[in-house]
Amino acid sequence: MQLYTLKSQVEKSIDKAKDLKKTIGLVPTMGSLHQGHLSLLKKAVQSCEVVWVTIFVNPTQFNNKQDLNNYPKNIKKDLKMIYEISKNIFVFNPEISEMYENKLKIENFDFQDLDKELEGKYRNNHFSGVGTIVSKLFNLFKPTKAFFGEKDFQQTRIIDRLIKIKNFQTELVICPTVREQNGLALSSRNALLSTENKEKAAVIYKTLIYCKENFEKKSFKNIYNDCKKEINSLNDFELEYLEITDNKTLKKTKKNDVKKSFRVFICVLVNGVRLIDNILVK
Ligand code: PAJ
Repeated sequence: MQLYTLKSQVEKSIDKAKDLKKTIGLVPTMGSLHQGHLSLLKKAVQSCEVVWVTIFVNPTQFNNKQDLNNYPKNIKKDLKMIYEISKNIFVFNPEISEMYENKLKIENFDFQDLDKELEGKYRNNHFSGVGTIVSKLFNLFKPTKAFFGEKDFQQTRIIDRLIKIKNFQTELVICPTVREQNGLALSSRNALLSTENKEKAAVIYKTLIYCKENFEKKSFKNIYNDCKKEINSLNDFELEYLEITDNKTLKKTKKNDVKKSFRVFICVLVNGVRLIDNILVK
């Protein structure tokens, strides 16, 4: 495995791969890897000749200092997990100063309001921060394909838009959400939960399934009220949002429409830890 910390090292390696006309796969992560991240890596290894994973906790996408400071880090374990998938994967693990020079400058993009919905309402500038770092990574790696998880579906819509805005020659590959046996979506943040709350957090996926099953049977208002009551009845659990949205625009909708696809998004605070998930309901 090759581990790099400098952009200049990456540039050299990418130039070589491009000269040899190799396909380049990129898996951007913030580390503290789990089977969800690894599923992206496995997919990349299957479909690209050269695979890079980046491990970088991007400060500009955190609007909350405490959330940034609490973000779990475990580079040694991460490298071991990557190595077990393939010895040929390249890893880029830069310092903040390498990615941002001396200023944490955020670029602003016209995400056509995709950044104003859902997470955007609660995390000021979050998607500008994501766009800024992903744009820097795409410029550096010039990936043929980039792999992102459906777990962060709003993020995939943002990346799709970013590719169009910047005219990146990169194919966006969206990979299905990997879950615990109880349905809880794997997330680096799950490490911050107590064992008991991790078990109880199965309610998040159960809620999404409830929404899917009742989508055509009940009013959106009643679905919402049922779910809110169930979640808020649990100690330490607080529903931040539950929205039924148009699958394309991510705008909240109040009623069904035969011609459209819908997706339900949920965010639950478990003792202050933000857990998000989503499901296509129609
Ligand atoms: P991070 O949260 O580390 O996630 C990295 C990638 O793994 C994202 O594409 C995310 O959707 C995917 N992922 C996370 N949990 C998953 C799961 N349970 N199943 C499948 N895929 C999963 O998302 C980020 O980092 C950052 O915003 C980043 C894109 C790296 C920019 O900083």
